[in-house]
Amino acid sequence: MRAHLTRRYWFSASHRLHCSTMSPKRNVQTYGKCNNIHGHGHDYFIEVTVVGPVNSETGMICNLADLDTFVNGTVIERFDHENLNMLPEFSEVVPTTENLCVEIFNILNGGFHHAAIEKVRIEETSQNSFEYTGE
Ligand code: NI
Repeated sequence: MRAHLTRRYWFSASHRLHCSTMSPKRNVQTYGKCNNIHGHGHDYFIEVTVVGPVNSETGMICNLADLDTFVNGTVIERFDHENLNMLPEFSEVVPTTENLCVEIFNILNGGFHHAAIEKVRIEETSQNSFEYTGE
């Protein structure tokens, strides 16, 4: 009996959308106000979905405490109150929330031994959310 578990986390970070291979004009055309040189911040809400069998003894897919320890240690502590543009993973990659979603999925995927990571979903604003489930 396979089931899904989704747990919600959040962190605050800043970013500036800017592509170093594009001209200043094209950056403004592409990213608008998000290309502002001073950047801007978001409260990112992260939903991590795991999938696996329900353990017949515990009745759980995995222990939430184990998932929290893992996600907090690998993702939240890494990104909270950071300027995403200054992190090595975004030195060559524009820190859009699409790319952040892929990065977080790749950090989590394969590192958690109690259940499989199925999906990462990020709410960047109340109007936008992004999902990644792997290649
Ligand atoms: Ni933004």
